Amino acid sequence: MIGRRVIPFLAELSFIILSLLTPSIQGFFVRPSAHCLHSTWGSLSRREAANVSEPAATRAPPRTGIAQKVLDMALASPLWKYLLVPQARAKIVATAEANQIPWTSAKEWISGEMQTEITADPPLSTTTIPAYYQQSFHAYDKGNLSWEAALEVEIASCAVGARNFPQFGSNGEEAFRGAFDSALIEAGAVVSKAGRILDMGCGTGMSTRRLAINFPQAKAIQGVDLSPYFVAVGKRLLELAPNSFHEGGPWVSNIERDARIEYLVGDASNALQLKELQEESFDAINLQFVLHELPPEVAILVVDEAFRLLKPSGQLWICEMDFEAPAYAAQRANPLLFSLIRSTEPYLDIYAESISDLFSYVRSKFQHVKVVPATGRHFALVATRRGTGYDGEALFEDQRFDEDGNYRVEDTHLQLWESKGNQKHN
Ligand SMILES: C[S@@+](CC[C@H](N)C(=O)[O-])C[C@H]1O[C@@H](n2cnc3c(N)ncnc32)[C@H](O)[C@@H]1O
Repeated sequence: MIGRRVIPFLAELSFIILSLLTPSIQGFFVRPSAHCLHSTWGSLSRREAANVSEPAATRAPPRTGIAQKVLDMALASPLWKYLLVPQARAKIVATAEANQIPWTSAKEWISGEMQTEITADPPLSTTTIPAYYQQSFHAYDKGNLSWEAALEVEIASCAVGARNFPQFGSNGEEAFRGAFDSALIEAGAVVSKAGRILDMGCGTGMSTRRLAINFPQAKAIQGVDLSPYFVAVGKRLLELAPNSFHEGGPWVSNIERDARIEYLVGDASNALQLKELQEESFDAINLQFVLHELPPEVAILVVDEAFRLLKPSGQLWICEMDFEAPAYAAQRANPLLFSLIRSTEPYLDIYAESISDLFSYVRSKFQHVKVVPATGRHFALVATRRGTGYDGEALFEDQRFDEDGNYRVEDTHLQLWESKGNQKHN
């Protein structure tokens, strides 16, 4: 009896937690030690840039105590993996279908179109897959290194968007992404005519395709991702150019063929190894929802590599979760709740801890850095590279908060405790 009530409740909670992490789904955690929480960003930025500000003083409380230990044990136990995760996934599918998002048929469609490819592993690339990337992640045992993850990621993002932004229904993901498009422009993102853009950690191309639409003047938009499965699905979607179900098509968004887009399999932290990518050859490099999934030492390498790939005066664009925004900060201040959230993303805690260190590190390398809020929980950052010979201090414009200290964009995410049924509609 208790089981019949408690398990669906926990599954609902797990689903909500998966939903928080748009566009990611979920995963199992490796808890960072207290020692490494005071992050690599911090030590490197101090070493490399004596003139940038120190990280913000607010740090999350230590995660100790009996309740915390019990929760950590539960999250590491088979209960989570074998009972709650499947239930939560079933719930995501049901939520999608209840929002008219055709999860089952969209997945069948893309699986059918890729029947030949998915009977085998994708061709091995020369890229070495780092250890951090080989653990289970986002509810998939093999993380991003599986066909299932690659076939589902766009459908799941659409479902999560519908859950998180009920006022937009099945267009929630579109509204969410649109907020980043506008925020990047507000932060000063520009690309010159015939410019080249690189989308690092492009996944199946959700961010890459938007870049192509938003910057029609760009000559080339390349995407690089470590998962050959994601890249294969991204390439196939671009060939198929399906319509969205809103227009009677089989997919969850409209996809236009675009000969300017090229996807590559490779490690963004070692991107110059790829023969297609040359030093100082890009006008803009995009990192959309990538950094929170990386160990900090890898995130540093990725920012360094982006710097090398950018032309002098080129721009780095970062769109990310903002744990300095009150809505996420409040969740994080609750150690038990955040344990649950953290359990879905191995590096989220350390990322959350070190946002100001990330800003400091970017400031140490770039000439002008501007940060604006994109949603009530996310920021967009545009950093312009130092021109040759420039060695002055970076101009840092942090416009996330107004004069009264309020986050400038209202938090419109569905709150954790709200279900779609009791959400107030405007
Ligand atoms: C949350 S997804 C974001 C995908 C895409 N940018 C978007 O906005 O939908 C993060 C992506 O980063 C990729 N990734 C993680 N580490 C990487 C690395 N070292 N090099 C390239 N891609 C990486 C993952 O495979 C995954 O596709």
